[in-house]
Amino acid sequence: MSTVIRNGTVVTADLTYPADVKIEGGRIVEIGKGLKGDTELDATGCYVMPGGIDPHTHLEMPFMGTYSSDDFESGTRAALSGGTTMVVDFALPAPGQGLHDALQMWHNKSGRASCDYSYHMAVTWWGEQVFDEMKTVVEKEGITTFKHFMAYKGALMVNDDEMYASFQRLAELGGIALVHAENGDVVAELSAKLLREGNTGPEAHAYSRPTQVEGEATNRAIMIADMTGVPLYVVHVSCEEAHEAIRRARMQGKRVWGEPLIQHLTLDESEYFNADWDHAARRVMSPPFRNQKHQDSLWAGLQSGSLSVVATDHCAFTTEQKRFGVGDFTKIPNGTGGLEDRLPMLWTHGVATGRLTPNEFVAVTSTNIAKILNCYPRKGAILVGADADIVVWDPAKEKTITASAQQSAIDYNVFEGQTVKGLPRFTLTRGHVAVHDGEMRTQEGHGQFVKREANNPVNKALSSWKALTSPRPVERTGIPATGV
Ligand code: URP
Ligand code: ZN
Ligand code: ZN
Ligand code: ZN
Repeated sequence: MSTVIRNGTVVTADLTYPADVKIEGGRIVEIGKGLKGDTELDATGCYVMPGGIDPHTHLEMPFMGTYSSDDFESGTRAALSGGTTMVVDFALPAPGQGLHDALQMWHNKSGRASCDYSYHMAVTWWGEQVFDEMKTVVEKEGITTFKHFMAYKGALMVNDDEMYASFQRLAELGGIALVHAENGDVVAELSAKLLREGNTGPEAHAYSRPTQVEGEATNRAIMIADMTGVPLYVVHVSCEEAHEAIRRARMQGKRVWGEPLIQHLTLDESEYFNADWDHAARRVMSPPFRNQKHQDSLWAGLQSGSLSVVATDHCAFTTEQKRFGVGDFTKIPNGTGGLEDRLPMLWTHGVATGRLTPNEFVAVTSTNIAKILNCYPRKGAILVGADADIVVWDPAKEKTITASAQQSAIDYNVFEGQTVKGLPRFTLTRGHVAVHDGEMRTQEGHGQFVKREANNPVNKALSSWKALTSPRPVERTGIPATGV
């Protein structure tokens, strides 16, 4: 059985041309004029683009005493509805838990995915077991990217000695280090001070995480990465200070990438000063939303290429979960949704405004991500042999975003009321039409795990385990027991 997408304009990260695209066995088999197939999808007036890849999601993640509310079923349905055909989630070991163990738990959850997916592994503690298992996680499990939280002190945060050891290990394994760059010690101090002084509301979350804590941590991670030679990927870059550090590092020839989120690009700090507690708390995430100066910096980074990809950090909590933090902002679960809206919002605020070309849109939502994560051209490409993960994009189609019509399982949407222009006509996951004009035809379990290859190792400096000079006990709070 073959499918042909007819009469569209193919848009990739570097080319725009009219062509039909023929699909068989889940892959692209031919690109050309006048193609015929068993099924035909009309793409007249549409762009035929590689499906979006969201490199940063947290589906059903144990966090801050609860679990994020979108799982691999609702999360991937939301993704496909908005034209995203692959997500990269974070496998998160509990303190003291082995990496393979955590990975197995994530594989169990993701069986319900309706689009393809991969994982990053989080390094939440450090010890000989983590050091040993990193090698098999990279070489056997196909997970080459490891996230380090420099914030969430007492829970997920790793210290500099742990980060340095982990970066060295990754360098020799050909992996990539990811960082959540905020100075967790300073955030903890500021949070305690704000609470002592009676600032308990959601706006205090923003005060507790000024841009300097992000700028400092980004610079520190870049320097530590440089000392080990490991390539570095900075997640959720929200401000000029962090962007500046990344920009400088890239100009110096360092292998550093920055990932802004669609939320930070389009929503600002005024959201936290809404008189409605629920409104503000629903937007609590780390780093917090910033002012226009920082938003302009992020857009400029996408335009100039100093920032490489746009993600969501989709980590959705219901209003009820957010209310854990009534009376104490530090207990509001951190995270916002966006999986379904990333492409339409970026098209509306990026392409329709002239800030990005359609080709740049494809680069930052798909192709650059596939290249950095080593799954190009299987993903992120319209090429013969590539997976048929395709979005047929109708630039004239409009909607107003509202929680009542979304696929996400939560009861609100941070973009509520925004009108977007540019939406999928069809979304295809390995050739299967999962969305047609807003009508969902997703298949639970259709999604497959995408293994990725390591890069060439950078050095052989740390080929055997060395304990840290002053190791700390593995003792954290805030992460619920992770039994499935
Ligand atoms: O507030 C956020 N970003 N929540 C999700 C976890 C993380 O820090 O990425
Ligand atoms: Zn983070
Ligand atoms: Zn995250
Ligand atoms: Zn199928």
